[in-house]
Amino acid sequence: MEMYTPEALITEEEISLRIEALGKAITKDFENEDLIVICVLKGAFIFCSDLIKKINRPVSLEFISLSSYGDSTNSSGNVRLEMDITANIEGKNVLIVEDIVDTGLTIKTLMDMMHVRKPKTVKLASLLFKPVKLKHKVNIDYLGFEIEDKFVIGYGLDYAGRYRELPYIGMLNAGN
Ligand code: IMP
Repeated sequence: MEMYTPEALITEEEISLRIEALGKAITKDFENEDLIVICVLKGAFIFCSDLIKKINRPVSLEFISLSSYGDSTNSSGNVRLEMDITANIEGKNVLIVEDIVDTGLTIKTLMDMMHVRKPKTVKLASLLFKPVKLKHKVNIDYLGFEIEDKFVIGYGLDYAGRYRELPYIGMLNAGN
């Protein structure tokens, strides 16, 4: 397969500094509390693993997988639960960790699903946010970076299953 280096939008160092700050804020907000971190697969797996290392609180980790249908660079109007968490979150502090909020549909659907299970609190950490496309009201408690309406890849985010392993956030250019 041909090698290709996408142009960087956010560097490894910028990501690392931002995650350090988010970790400190979460640690402070959950003083004397435990939390259940829910990593939204697959896109958030790298962000989540780096973030929990910076949270100085007892954390238990869960994974969830949702899929939305549409063409590869646009979200559709349907979200399906592909894999659920195994923990009972009733009465617990929950932190959902997502890669990117675009239209907000995925995270809104997930938040609604979690609220039905009666957790004590539900907060959201998202590495990226594209405000231009937002269609659903979403409150991001811990945001990494706000970005323009560009399709981004790397650091867990994919295009057609590729580029997740890039250590930085890159832009998908036409023709690549
Ligand atoms: P939403 O439901 O429209 O907010 O879309 C959220 C999901 O779409 C994310 O969890 C990603 O999987 C995917 N997505 C949206 N924008 C991008 C992007 O620029 N790059 C990679 N995936 C994206």
